[in-house]
Amino acid sequence: MTKLKAVITGVHAYLPDYKLTNEELSKMVDTSDEWIMQRIGIKERRILKGEGLATSDMGAEAVKGLLKKTGTNPKDIDLIIVATVTPDMFFPSTANLIASKAGLKKSWGFDLAAACSGFLFGLETANRFVTSGQYKKVILVGADKMSAITDYTDRTICPLFGDAAAAVLIEPSEEEGVGVIDHSLHVDGSGAVSLNLKGGGSLNPASHETVDNKMHYTYQDGKAVFKVAVSKMADVSVDVMTRNNLSPESNLWLVPHQANMRIIEAVARRMELPKEKVMVNIHKYGNTTAATIPLCLWEWEDQLKKGDDLILTAFGGGYTWGAIYLKWAY
Ligand code: UT7
Repeated sequence: MTKLKAVITGVHAYLPDYKLTNEELSKMVDTSDEWIMQRIGIKERRILKGEGLATSDMGAEAVKGLLKKTGTNPKDIDLIIVATVTPDMFFPSTANLIASKAGLKKSWGFDLAAACSGFLFGLETANRFVTSGQYKKVILVGADKMSAITDYTDRTICPLFGDAAAAVLIEPSEEEGVGVIDHSLHVDGSGAVSLNLKGGGSLNPASHETVDNKMHYTYQDGKAVFKVAVSKMADVSVDVMTRNNLSPESNLWLVPHQANMRIIEAVARRMELPKEKVMVNIHKYGNTTAATIPLCLWEWEDQLKKGDDLILTAFGGGYTWGAIYLKWAY
């Protein structure tokens, strides 16, 4: 019997129009374009403006565009998985809301919370559904409205994040040499102290105190996270590369999470990859959490060829991290 592979057959993204530049940020907090470019590598990030707009609105736009682009009938989607840490609300799930907004009448779905590694965890989950043979069309969305949980009076956090959504269509294929090949995914809850959002959950339900203590904003011990992010992303990427006999000489792309240009460069150095094989758009969009990796796939779609080797890697709150080896299918 031929073994089924899960392949990405389309990708689409939604980016809000508003560009929050370093110049504008430096009027809000004590920072500068020079510091942000040197230490992080971000020039501007997109912000979702407008009353009543949330993660599901960005996700629905990405999904509608994906369906149109791939000529897919919304009624043919079996499952939608939404990787996000900024759901519209605790429940219903953002997957539920996106399905409704994008007309996915037959689909069921759920949210997946793995912060910046959300797209990777979602891709491996979708891989299992699709290769079971029971699911023919699965949509995976990475979407975050990080501006909703960012403190714009704190210069150590506000330059980092942006808002975006991107979606991929995943289908089964019997073809050799395409699809999701290998993964190495990890969690370590001891990292929760260094990167978290404490307020609003069952531990610290929303109260005047949680608001006063800014517990509804992302907290990050940047230095601590930086060190672990570099070593974990590089280790896991090199590991997946080595055990699949991939080399810098082969046609290998690195699709890294976009949190800090220095982290991306360090990982690429460990993998001995040339600059032109590393997808980087952090300067334009910043860290969009679960959306960074599919946003890269969307921007590089025209340059990718069938059979190209890709290593997708991320590190984020939890801690969560990992790498996936994927062979591009079109
Ligand atoms: O995606 C999830 C995973 N997250 C990450 O991977 C992020 C990992 N961490 C980082 O990317 C970096 O640690 C940051 C970009 C968050 C910070 O960069 P850093 O080089 O680690 O800076 P730092 O926190 O050590 O701060 C150095 C100095 C401090 O001043 P003093 O104490 O040396 O006087 C900060 O107060 O830079 C100061 N600083 C700033 N100065 C101007 C911090 N933020 C700013 C700012 N503008 N925006």
